[in-house]
Amino acid sequence: MQGMIEKRGSIGIIWIDNPPVNAISHAVREGLIKAVENASKDSEIKGLVLACRGRTFMAGADITEFASGVKPPWLGEVIDTMSESSKVIVAAIFGTTFGGGLEVALGCNYRIADSNTKIGLPEVKLGIIPGAQGTQRLSRVSSVEFALKLATLGNPVGAQEALEAGAIDKISNGELIDDAVSYAKELLKNNAPLKKSHTLSIDPKKYNDSFFNDYRKTISRKTRGMAAPECCIKAIQASVNLPFEEGVKFEREMTIECRDNPQSKALQHVFFAERQAAKVPGLSKDTPLQTIKKVGVIGAGTMGGGISMNFANVGIPVKILEMDQAALDKGLGIVKKNYEASAWKGRISSEDVDVRMGLIEGTTNYSDLKDVDLVIEAVFENMDVKKEVFSKLNETVSENTILASNTSYLDIDEIATVVDNPERVLGMHFFSPANIMRLLEIIKAEKTSPAILATVLKLAKSIKKVGAVAGVCHGFIGNRMLTGYSREANLLVLEGAPPEQVDRVLYEFGMPMGVIAMADMAGIDIGTRLRQQMDESDYDVMATSVADKLVAQGRCGQKTGAGFYDYKAGNRTPIPSEVTKQIISETAEEFGVVQREISDDEIIERCFYAMCNTGFDILHEKMAFRSSDIDTVYINGYGFPAWRGGPMYWAENTVGLEKMLNGIQNFANIHGDRWWKPSPLLERMVQNNLSLKEIVNH
Ligand code: NAI
Repeated sequence: MQGMIEKRGSIGIIWIDNPPVNAISHAVREGLIKAVENASKDSEIKGLVLACRGRTFMAGADITEFASGVKPPWLGEVIDTMSESSKVIVAAIFGTTFGGGLEVALGCNYRIADSNTKIGLPEVKLGIIPGAQGTQRLSRVSSVEFALKLATLGNPVGAQEALEAGAIDKISNGELIDDAVSYAKELLKNNAPLKKSHTLSIDPKKYNDSFFNDYRKTISRKTRGMAAPECCIKAIQASVNLPFEEGVKFEREMTIECRDNPQSKALQHVFFAERQAAKVPGLSKDTPLQTIKKVGVIGAGTMGGGISMNFANVGIPVKILEMDQAALDKGLGIVKKNYEASAWKGRISSEDVDVRMGLIEGTTNYSDLKDVDLVIEAVFENMDVKKEVFSKLNETVSENTILASNTSYLDIDEIATVVDNPERVLGMHFFSPANIMRLLEIIKAEKTSPAILATVLKLAKSIKKVGAVAGVCHGFIGNRMLTGYSREANLLVLEGAPPEQVDRVLYEFGMPMGVIAMADMAGIDIGTRLRQQMDESDYDVMATSVADKLVAQGRCGQKTGAGFYDYKAGNRTPIPSEVTKQIISETAEEFGVVQREISDDEIIERCFYAMCNTGFDILHEKMAFRSSDIDTVYINGYGFPAWRGGPMYWAENTVGLEKMLNGIQNFANIHGDRWWKPSPLLERMVQNNLSLKEIVNH
């Protein structure tokens, strides 16, 4: 039963028990009100402790109620009842005290936290704001700065930081409930005041308009395009300038504004999409998964080093194999430098550096990989080299060892042909920098067994990655969709849109940077070299010729100080280049392209319709289980703005499938249908009025 009271002398403990995370359901809300009311009538009880059973204090609202509609009492009423209590209430918090859970704790008079507690207001990540007085109470209890940090960025903080900020009053290093009871007794003994957060006020002179405007600037890069963080700022500003009750009303207005903004729906889609991506359709829950205790990595280059760090970071030992000692030393040296840089920035301790480096062992001998449970190959992007590596692995490691390739484009089915039991072969496509980027694109080859796929999806979670499954096709989900996007950007440049216009429009759409500037950053020569090994029928010569000419002049991008853009020494800011402008107009003339003024809308449509059309092809060819997996890939691997829900969600909900199909047909009429062939799936969906949720591949 919710809200049961256990008496320990003069202290009543209100117990909440709603597994698994003590979500604040209707029963919990009712139970809490009743318990506080009952305690107020019980003369034996002088003070209260609010406690939870299980693995965490209340971790937030009960999201299952969102669909059916939340019934009163509202959480705000519960918090009002608690904050009006005549008896002191100490919240005993632990685990992940997030969202509504933190708001409940803020309605208590004092807060004691287990030393491992994390507190947070993650609502902005779902496009909403704390809606049960959190924006009004946290700034009063701690500071405006701390409330802004928690509410606008949505990231949790640890108990120590919360203590320093005043959001909690005490840390317990022993048994939490015993300590909370003692704390309540001590407060009573000392006649401590009933600290009520709503009665506190904040100095408006210290937190004037310019303070909030400065804060907006500090977070603008991280929250670009998002509506909810601005609503949080306004609500917290109201906590400074308005009496509590009016501030609560204003918070309500902001909550409704966010709820009605399409961004909240898009972000909720993203939240569920990530969870869904971890599931292999049709796979029984009881299928036994393999345990990954030791990992082997082949190649200690850019990717191999970063991949190894992921495992060492969570305590899984790694053996990296290289061709020779010199390459090994170089690779391990870079890993060490990366760890030292993290320690220097204060992200990890110097002991962590030693522990993690201690988990990464180098070798040049395949026999040292005998006992690993998984090998990830990250050698040069060359089929012969990859096959040679897999042949050696086939001979040396156990037949149960999972064999993965980090290839960006190569055919994993072909790689698997050199392995005796190919059901254990798959792709694990990490993104650079591999120790930082959240996405792990998992490539299901023709013979990969569902259990191996599920094992790797689970592993992705343990190394803190978001896993999403793709089938074997050129570039899988992510890089395949990038092709059309980047081709159109380059064609637009040729047709008269200056590179800086294309990049500005893509950036303003919400991408981390424009695709032309991105090419300069990655090195334009990579694409040129790749194309030298390709057949001209596989790419658009017109779209790539400016890039190839730039490379021929030694303008390979940032690393050579010039590419599409010019760069000042030691500075990465792109400067529009006269040389490039000249090359573009010469190339346009060469191909008979008449340059014209191009609208920002055309740039968005050409680039993103091309991207999405490929997405529909991917679904049509069953190269993704579901469209939300494509969204997950694009948000976590390519920086597509989450608040737009991912490219497929955007296609369906913002553009509309019929409009997109018409747009693609129109581009096919103008530019020919070599690249602008509407995806058969998109056509079928429009014809039959289908929604993306209905398209699930097995
Ligand atoms: P890299 O050139 O930095 O590293 C490759 C390493 O493999 C080198 O240290 C080399 O000595 C070693 N190596 C080559 N042949 C070997 C063999 N037979 N046995 C043992 N070691 C061998 O290359 P990078 O960038 O790390 O790429 C590796 C793989 O990851 C490629 O397939 C690439 O397409 C893929 N990839 C690369 C990304 C990137 O941004 N660099 C992103 C995602 C995937």
